[in-house]
Order: sequence, then structure tokens, then C-alpha cells
Amino acid sequence: MLQPSHITPEDFGEELASIIPGQDPELSVSIKRIPVSEMDLSHHIIPVCEPTLAGKEKEYVLDCLETNWISSAGKYIPAFEEQFAAECHCRYGVACANGTVALHLALAALGLEPDDEVILPTFTMIATINAVVYTGARPVLIDAEPCTWNMDVEQLADKVSPKTKAIIPMHTYGHPVDMDPVMELAERRGLFVLEDAAEAHGAEYKGQRAGGLGHAAGFSFYANKVITTGEGGMITTNDAKLAALTQNLRDHAFSEERHFWHKYLGYNYRMTNLQAAVGLAQTEKLNDFVDRRRQNAAMYTELLKDIPGIVTPPEAGWAKSVFWMYSILVEDEFGMTRDQLRAYLARHGIETRTFFIPMHLQPIYYEAFKGQRYPVAEMLCRRGFYLPSASSLTREQIRYIARNVQEAHQEATR
Ligand SMILES: Cc1ncc(COP(=O)(O)O)c(C=O)c1O
Repeated sequence: MLQPSHITPEDFGEELASIIPGQDPELSVSIKRIPVSEMDLSHHIIPVCEPTLAGKEKEYVLDCLETNWISSAGKYIPAFEEQFAAECHCRYGVACANGTVALHLALAALGLEPDDEVILPTFTMIATINAVVYTGARPVLIDAEPCTWNMDVEQLADKVSPKTKAIIPMHTYGHPVDMDPVMELAERRGLFVLEDAAEAHGAEYKGQRAGGLGHAAGFSFYANKVITTGEGGMITTNDAKLAALTQNLRDHAFSEERHFWHKYLGYNYRMTNLQAAVGLAQTEKLNDFVDRRRQNAAMYTELLKDIPGIVTPPEAGWAKSVFWMYSILVEDEFGMTRDQLRAYLARHGIETRTFFIPMHLQPIYYEAFKGQRYPVAEMLCRRGFYLPSASSLTREQIRYIARNVQEAHQEATR
């Protein structure tokens, strides 16, 4: 039987153990010191994220039910693929079961061998590295850069070896990676670039949308994403052959010559028509959601930017971030640690989430990266967390949250 890793934070040494966050604080609501106009807010927990299903989701899903098309055939799948790919300024979309398998499918199509290497950021969500490991290839990590919190593209060239086959830039929290140097290096060294765009629906790099910047991209439509299908994912690409191959691989690699005849190792990574129906309705609202998230982020930043010790999220001059999660850093000057601030907010009904624990500090990858250090990713892990970030967040909620951050600072430095 499979056994879990028994590695504990202490196995990484005292210094690193101290940056690995513990349990989330318990959420509660309090009405203390909340003005009457915000009384309603005080009775509700503000979740870190929630979907907005206010478009044609219900109409399209009912159509699936009424017409009996509920599985992985049906008109909503190609309609969703086409429309979402178009939003990414891309020719092809291949819908699949989730964002993890979108990445895996794209990598599987490369035919990676066990000795091959794939470069990815250590500061990411576990699915990015797992997708590489599923193929048998070896993941090679790269640190984050302090200015965008994305993969440090300046370190990239040093990580490329004769065994490198692919690079996975991940657009962290909706901020695109500086892709020009990535693509330039990839072209020079003949490498495949797979964007992990799970958090970056609608984000732009120099006017070009995420999802169409590399050779392919993987999106997630989990319920906390900018648009959702409940569970779901999609590969976007301009490469017709890659699109056709991944379409085939996601469907058990059935061959066209005869039924039940398989020439590749395929997978069942299909999306259902029901999910695609939700996805199509969500895609119709994508630009609206992006606008709302950007407006919410601007308001948060305006209210938080002068609080000592709070670092508001980056946006490079060439970037249009979608602020998938409104992410902040807590520095010593704030007077409370990140965890103390989260606990304070939780006592006021505000749900938050810590940043990723970097891949080199994961129990499952302890042996693979033993002794490796990535100082920027470690700093982000120690100091970062995100505030409620749903597209549906109201101005009153943002004001309430920002005021609580301000009050926490005043309490800490009184
Ligand atoms: C960066 C990143 N990559 C991949 C994924 C995996 O997506 P899914 O949960 O749909 O499998 C996520 C999901 O949260 C993510 O944040």
C-alpha cells in the first residue's frame, strides 16, 4: 500500500521550518467596532473566493439535460473550446477534466523520456511539478524574482542543460511572466514552452493574452478561478498537430482506423458537455470578470498602499494582471507577523490563504531537491497571503477588509 512521506517541516532545518505555515486560523465573525452600515458584513464570512454564476450557465446546463447530452460529446464542448481559445487569441482549445491534466496532456504529447528535464518555478502550485513527474521527466526548479513573483527569467539560461526539453512559465496569481526572454531562449535551444496559465485567464503580456504566448498553455477552471466549470481545464495552442494529438490522447487515444485500437498510451481526461455549458456561459463574461478584478485590485491597493509593512501586488509596465488573487506581503514594519494578521482577519470573518509552499519544501519532493535553496520563493512563502478576491466582491467588503488590516496595524504598533 502507498505510504505518505513522513518528512516534517523540521526536517528542512530550523530556519526553513519557521517559514512553512501551520493550520489556517479559525474563522469567526464579530460585530465589535463595526459601524452600523457594515453590520451586515459582520454577520457573514467573506470567503477568499467564490464563483459568479449569473450569466447563461443555468440555461445552457438545462439545455444539456433536456437534450440528453450530458457526457463528453455535445455541442457545448466545441463551442466552449472555440470561444475560450479565441479569448486567448489562439486557434485551438482542447477542453479536459482539470488544469493538472491539461498540463500533463500537453507534456505527454511531447513524448518525454525519463532522462529529459523540464524547468519550472519552485514557487507554484503542486500540479505544475506533478504534471512533469507523471511523464517520468525530471523537474528542474528555478527561483522567483522579487519584482513580479514569477519565475526569474534571468536565471533561466543557467538552468538549461543538453537534457532540457521544456520550460513551464507559470503566471503567478494572474500576473504574466516576462515571456520575450523565455521564448527567445527556447527558440535558440529548441525548447518547448508550456505556459501554466491556470491562474491567468484574460491576463496580457505586451497586449497579447496569456495562453497564446508560448507553444501551448494549460488553464484550470476550478471553482476559484477567474472563470469556472466546477472542475475543468483546457489546453490552448496555435499548433494544429499538437491540438489534434492532445484531443486524441484525452480520449483514450482511440484510433480512426478501427474502434478499440490504440497506438498511443491514452487517458480519459475528457470534459463533459455539462461542464462545457457552464464554461461557455462563463467565457461570455470573462472580460467583465477581468475588469471587475482589476477594479477591485485598484481599490484594495489604494486603501492598503500607505499602511507600513504592507506590500501590495506587483504589476509590471508591460503586464495586465488579472489579480486572480489579491496577494500581499507582510513585512516586519507592520508590527504583526503574516500569521498574526491572518488570525486577526479570521476573527473578523475574513478568510485568507497563505502563498504556495515552494516545491523544494514539499515532503513528497524532499529527496529530489534536498539542500537546494531558493531565497525569493522562501521569502514569499514566509510573508505572503491573499485577501478575498472573488469578482463579485463589493466595494463595502473591500473597505471592510482594508479597514481591518489598518486596525490590525494600529493595534500592533499602539
Ligand atoms: C498554477 C496552477 N497550476 C495548475 C493548477 C491545477 O489546476 P486544477 O486544480 O484544475 O487541476 C492550479 C490549480 O489551482 C494552479 O494554481
